[in-house]
Amino acid sequence: MSDPALDAARARLERARRIVVLTGAGISAESGVPTFRGEGGLWRSHRPEELATPQAFARDPLLVWRWYQWRRDLVAGCAPNPGHDTLARLALSGRADLVTQNVDGLHELAARRAAGNADPSPALPLTLHGSLFGNRCTRCGRRTDGRGTPVDATSIDTLPRCAEPCGGRLRPDVVWFGEVLDPDVLSRAFSLAVAAEVCLVVGTSTMVQPAASIPLATLRAGGSLVEVNPEPTPLSPYAAASLHGPAGELLPHLFGKA
Ligand code: OAD
Repeated sequence: MSDPALDAARARLERARRIVVLTGAGISAESGVPTFRGEGGLWRSHRPEELATPQAFARDPLLVWRWYQWRRDLVAGCAPNPGHDTLARLALSGRADLVTQNVDGLHELAARRAAGNADPSPALPLTLHGSLFGNRCTRCGRRTDGRGTPVDATSIDTLPRCAEPCGGRLRPDVVWFGEVLDPDVLSRAFSLAVAAEVCLVVGTSTMVQPAASIPLATLRAGGSLVEVNPEPTPLSPYAAASLHGPAGELLPHLFGKA
């Protein structure tokens, strides 16, 4: 594929010594994970205030758990696509750090696949919004892995609880609307953005703060933006290159076998 915008973006990324990549739901769209705001997006057919706020969980934990278990089942059947794989190889090569808003764990799977028997940690993303498969105790804050133990949301009594003696109610370990992000994770993400020569923004509508400000930190520090998204976003006017197309197709063309 040869296209002047793609060639210019490729040259810019090749020259950059440090790249930070910010991803959103769009990178997983080709894996079959629904986005939030696009066509078929979750927030087109569901109301976030009924499913993704602490108030919703306090009001109706059964409804919230049913929805998260549905999403867990859906995502458990999805695999990383060539977009995730390309970014994992790039991060393993040491030229880029990954920051994601996604909770689906597909970057993590791609990191392990790309690393083979080597250490996948350079390709593991900073996760801004938590993990779909994690549980967190609402009383003591203890985190546990919810994978492999489907939540039985048939009644209040069957909902998962923390180990004794705590016994507190478990919730999905994701960041809900109205909640603050982990300050340590956030500050690491902004430090990476400031240090980067290029921020590559993939598959995010940039509608949710503070994640949407991460690319601006790169810009303010004198770096540039490259965007990969089938649609224009509020960030597009500030991007040195806006590549309009699916991440699973464009990223391998941008980096080849990085
Ligand atoms: P959105 O659903 O808001 O945006 C998805 C973006 O992906 C849109 O701009 C699409 O145009 C783009 N897109 C669709 N298909 C694509 C493809 N194949 N390749 C590349 N891009 C594609 O998702 P986010 O921006 O990630 O928060 O949403 C941010 C946050 O809002 C999420 O993390 C979630 C949500 O509420 C929490 O869960 C806290």
